[in-house]
Amino acid sequence: MWLGKYNLGTPVFMAPMAGITDKAFREVVRLAGGKYSFTEMVSDKALLSCNPKTVKMLDLNEEDEPRIVQLFGAEPVPMAEAAKIAVTYGANVIDINMGCPTPKIVKNGEGSALLKNLCLAENIAANVVKNVSVPVTVKMRLGWDSSAIIASELVRRLEAVGVSMVTIHARTREQHYTGKADWEWIARIKERVKIPVIGNGDILTPDQAQKMVNQTGCDGVMIARGALGRPWAIARAQYFLDTGKKLPEPSNKEKYELFLFHFEKLLSYKGERIGGNEIRKHAAWYLKGIKGTAEYRNKIMNTHNSEGIKMIIAKIFAQED
Ligand SMILES: Cc1cc2nc3c(=O)[nH]c(=O)nc-3n(C[C@H](O)[C@H](O)[C@H](O)COP(=O)(O)O)c2cc1C
Repeated sequence: MWLGKYNLGTPVFMAPMAGITDKAFREVVRLAGGKYSFTEMVSDKALLSCNPKTVKMLDLNEEDEPRIVQLFGAEPVPMAEAAKIAVTYGANVIDINMGCPTPKIVKNGEGSALLKNLCLAENIAANVVKNVSVPVTVKMRLGWDSSAIIASELVRRLEAVGVSMVTIHARTREQHYTGKADWEWIARIKERVKIPVIGNGDILTPDQAQKMVNQTGCDGVMIARGALGRPWAIARAQYFLDTGKKLPEPSNKEKYELFLFHFEKLLSYKGERIGGNEIRKHAAWYLKGIKGTAEYRNKIMNTHNSEGIKMIIAKIFAQED
């Protein structure tokens, strides 16, 4: 598939995840071989008021193209203004969030609240498309709840106003992250439009990525939770879609090297206090699935200096595979 000038093949996207897919995370995904990542969601209004933390989220320096920045907001004009700013920071694609279920976001009319007002959702997308020269994409859920599955209608409208690609997380807002993503809807939406449709929801393995493509006919897939502590998940799924062959899981030594890279990047971008704090949750995820590490995961959560965390992880990964 094409996204603007970019030929992406059948892409596997690292999903946007607030508090997770920051610059350090995107770089470790890239180092592990993943090609395409979204930023965390960025508030239009915070960007327009030059909130320093938000401006930092737009550090895209030296990242590979296409650099995809996700914005969230509730009004056409500020969203378009924020999109223009994001482009000046190097965004090659602007993605609009129409899926976030968090009450704090929804009560402002942002994220999945837009699924309740198709006219507004369409106007926001149209105004962003009109004001930037880069492709504009939308990530959304199926609808607000099971009585209002509107994704198919919304995607049709978004295509009509010039949106270049949609990602469908096949759950409703009401479901949050519970239940099973209903991939059938992705197939139905794909049949209805010409723009690329990306399937998202409950893909953990390369086999599941391939199954999503086969079952729905989607043009690419997106993985979120399956890459927590497993930044190599994106590359493994991509390799399988591209070649039909499976890359082995990284060895403990390789995992440790990726962890260390992630750790150093977090410290260098966010400093010892914030970076050191954030790496603890990632460290616990990296250890998930490794036998006998439950006790270490508790230890990490109670260790508040970065060197201490590094030593705990080094000890575990020093074990033979
Ligand atoms: C911790 C967390 C943060 C998320 N943040 C965002 C976000 O900023 N923007 C967005 O569009 N989706 C966000 N999502 C949703 C994911 O991108 C994805 O749609 C969802 O998790 C389903 O995919 P999965 O089954 O592969 O996890 C977030 C999900 C999680 C678990």
